[in-house]
Amino acid sequence: MATSNSVPALKVESNRRVELESNVLGQFIPLHYHFQMLQDRQRLAAFRGAMELHLQPGMHVVELGGGTGILSSFAARLGTTVTCVERNPQLAAFAQNAIRENGLSNQIEVVLQDASKYIPDKPVDAVICEMLHVGLLREKQTEVITAFKQNYQNHWNEPLPRFFPEASRLMLQLIDHPFEFDGYYAPLPIFQNPDLYANDGLHELSPLIDYEHLFYDELFSDSIRWSGIINAQSNGFLSAIRFVTQNFLSVEANGESPVWSNQFLIVPLQDPSPITLGQNLKVEFEYRYGDPLERLQHSIQVTYLPVNA
Ligand SMILES: C[S@@+](CC[C@H](N)C(=O)[O-])C[C@H]1O[C@@H](n2cnc3c(N)ncnc32)[C@H](O)[C@@H]1O
Repeated sequence: MATSNSVPALKVESNRRVELESNVLGQFIPLHYHFQMLQDRQRLAAFRGAMELHLQPGMHVVELGGGTGILSSFAARLGTTVTCVERNPQLAAFAQNAIRENGLSNQIEVVLQDASKYIPDKPVDAVICEMLHVGLLREKQTEVITAFKQNYQNHWNEPLPRFFPEASRLMLQLIDHPFEFDGYYAPLPIFQNPDLYANDGLHELSPLIDYEHLFYDELFSDSIRWSGIINAQSNGFLSAIRFVTQNFLSVEANGESPVWSNQFLIVPLQDPSPITLGQNLKVEFEYRYGDPLERLQHSIQVTYLPVNA
């Protein structure tokens, strides 16, 4: 039974959890989580496809956040030499062993270091960085790449190398999602496999709307502040916003870019409401890249504009 003391206590606990998530899970991903990444064939195929298009034997490649070393192995098997930078000692040790087991020790060096402080000892041709979560939340993709670019240019004063991925496209969509589980209503953030998204009873209420495009070799901000008017494309009950992120491992002029979609993120709204076809809604939110999900969730504001406004 809740007492008058229990709510502040819960709040403190929740703040602590937010800090823990950002400091631990966002950056230190335990070894057993890497199984999912190793199994994600679409992710691996997209990275491998981009590397096949752009890496040549003799090139030098750096991977920032190498994990088990699998992406470094793709580069090495194309005849490159690779420096695989990983700051989690458990992962670095695992990668070193796996690289030896795979006969790639002559080509890949594992360096145990924070990638945001790493400066290569010679200019590099390409950088792989997969610290990517939907919306660029939780993981430090932009922070680490920004630091790498500054360190690299200060030290080498050379043009920046190619980045894999080359760009990320961040989108959102209004949806009706039931949040009902066996008769129990539980509106919580949900991750959704991009391949299964049509099968779970949700109803799309708007098209996908682009809210940011990031090109990793350009200057970009460390945060997002978005505000836009979205026109409902159907009647329904607006209960959530779905966030969709596509990563272009390389951007190809012929339109055949290898693309990898992160898991979709469904964020429940605080004030779900019926909407009608053609109605305009003002949606606003802000977060810093790498923030925990809660920062995005708590910042979302939806204003239901009068019909014909
Ligand atoms: C999403 S995993 C990807 C691992 C691997 N590149 C792959 O694609 O399978 C991100 C990895 O980056 C590492 N990492 C996160 N922040 C880092 C940092 N600042 N410096 C070095 N490694 C980091 C994590 O420990 C984790 O192994």
